[in-house]
Amino acid sequence: MDQGDELMQSIEGPLTRSAVFLVLRVADDGPGAAEAIRTVKEALAGLEDLVKTVAFREPRNRLSCTVGVGDRIWPQLMGAAKPAELHPFREIAGATHTAISTPGDLLFHIRADREDLVYEMERLLLRALGSSVETVDEVSGFRYFDARDLLGFVDGTANPVGPGLSESVLVGDEDPAFAGGSYVVVQKYLHDMDAWQRLTAEQQEAIMGRTKSDNVELDDAADDAQKAHKTLATIEDEQGEHDIARDNMPFARPGSGEFGTYFIGYSRHLWVIERMLERMFIGDPPGLHDRLLDFSTPATGTTFFVPSPALLAALEA
Ligand code: HEM
Repeated sequence: MDQGDELMQSIEGPLTRSAVFLVLRVADDGPGAAEAIRTVKEALAGLEDLVKTVAFREPRNRLSCTVGVGDRIWPQLMGAAKPAELHPFREIAGATHTAISTPGDLLFHIRADREDLVYEMERLLLRALGSSVETVDEVSGFRYFDARDLLGFVDGTANPVGPGLSESVLVGDEDPAFAGGSYVVVQKYLHDMDAWQRLTAEQQEAIMGRTKSDNVELDDAADDAQKAHKTLATIEDEQGEHDIARDNMPFARPGSGEFGTYFIGYSRHLWVIERMLERMFIGDPPGLHDRLLDFSTPATGTTFFVPSPALLAALEA
């Protein structure tokens, strides 16, 4: 098994029952800065062992944890060389909706089929990191019936599978120093459920591009017409279609009126996700934005790079 296979397993590990999305800031200012960086490096180098420590207690429940490192903290943690496309999330302002950019140095994407494993992993991880980090955002997601988002649609169907998955997700020879790693973009979307539920099922299906009950793909609209979400999120050029791997998760606090989708996309090329966002927020043709956004507002938007396991292990030295 090479380093890529190992990372693949955690990136692909799709459709677990639970997940936590934890975005942290490294406390690299003030007198404790050097110590904070040292602690974070140690924790990242020990991440694989920590996953084993927790996963071994319930091996069938598929605990995994990937870590993404943001542009700001990259040089301090990982050194001068940087993945070719890594930069902070660039805000995309359409005529009606904006994909905002929010800060974050580290992303931990913890997944398992049981919430207790996810909790235990997060608890031990944060204990190892101690005061070297501050929490920016923390979302606990759950799988909703047959992998539906809270808008009621099956989410994740068009994800690449088999050999196409590593092709889409893992950096290759185009950036040899970072081969086996992956770009990851997250956005925390909040839904206006009342407005969504005022639409008919047919109107909702036209927005998504799939039928609601049995998840069958609808035909694409004409080039100059209003396109469905699935069409706007499809990126094609002379080389064919460029896929990404998504593991979106619903989250909710019904008592507080909060209903959301945590979008997470892994990609070999950051530009592919950026192109998807442009098509959604600006529209194709411009002005005809993704109507999913009339019912879903991003509260965050952050980009990271997931280093290969070998790069993480090397931090120990
Ligand atoms: C509120 C947030 C979102 C929701 C609820 C949502 C939901 C869905 C659903 C239900 C589908 C159809 C089934 C499937 O193939 O998975 C889909 C497809 C897709 N979405 Fe999203 N999505 C969201 C945001 C995004 C964002 C921000 C991106 C990319 C930046 C994205 C990229 C895609 C892609 C690539 C597909 C597959 C298109 C295809 O090849 O058919 N989605 N999404």
